[in-house]
Amino acid sequence: MIEFKQVSKDYVSNIGKEIKPALREVSFSVKDGEFITLCGRSGAGKTTILRMIACEEKPTTGSVVFYGQDTIDIKEKDAYSIRQQLGFIFQDFKLLPYKTVFENVAYALEVTGQDTKKAKDEVMKVLDLVGLTKKANRFPKELSGGEQQRTSIARALIHRPRIILADEPTGNLDPYHSRDIMKVLLKINEAGSTIILSTHNKEIVNNLKKRVITIDDGRIVRDEENGMFFI
Ligand SMILES: Nc1ncnc2c1ncn2[C@@H]1O[C@H](COP(=O)(O)OP(=O)(O)OP(=O)(O)O)[C@@H](O)[C@H]1O
Ligand SMILES: [Mg+2]
Repeated sequence: MIEFKQVSKDYVSNIGKEIKPALREVSFSVKDGEFITLCGRSGAGKTTILRMIACEEKPTTGSVVFYGQDTIDIKEKDAYSIRQQLGFIFQDFKLLPYKTVFENVAYALEVTGQDTKKAKDEVMKVLDLVGLTKKANRFPKELSGGEQQRTSIARALIHRPRIILADEPTGNLDPYHSRDIMKVLLKINEAGSTIILSTHNKEIVNNLKKRVITIDDGRIVRDEENGMFFI
């Protein structure tokens, strides 16, 4: 379980301007297996919340508790072990252009010191899960945007993360490919992973019929099961 307890965040401005709080007394908790959507206008604070879960930002006041561990004064090695339990999906797919689909996914294992040969089966399993088995030997530029994003999802899944953080994963995709990505995320959720998704896409939010947390100017203004897009 992840808990945000009265979390506020002020980013320190480097040009001495007035500090505008990015989050204001945000409280919510996420249970294992949930699918949560964070929605809100640009600048509302969605990415800040995801970055706090990943221990990349710390609250100014309040606390973020990851499975019982308060992250406020966490040691780098403990932050690393939290990140090991997370899979990240971004708006820009961040694929390596000179590696194939297979290699992009396998590389995520290589950098942690695993033998690629042993990992081959594991890579093919996640490529199957995202429907890319036949495109394993293609390079990113030979794929559609949706296929590139599915590659990045496969890469996020290779460590079998407990939690997937997806920051506007359909932001660069057309409606057809966006629905495709949502199907993959739902499938991963049904297989047991917790999903925390940030999006401004109204159609996606309204079709999901999952819990929706709406953030406006750093505050949670709604937190509803079977929620609708509301800004
Ligand atoms: N590193 C930073 N330094 C200073 N201010 C920041 C920093 N990161 C974010 N902010 C500010 O904090 C607020 C929240 O930003 P955040 O990125 O969390 O919004 P968001 O909801 O993800 O927006 P978007 O939908 O555009 O991605 C914004 O006002 C932003 O300008
Ligand atoms: Mg953002």
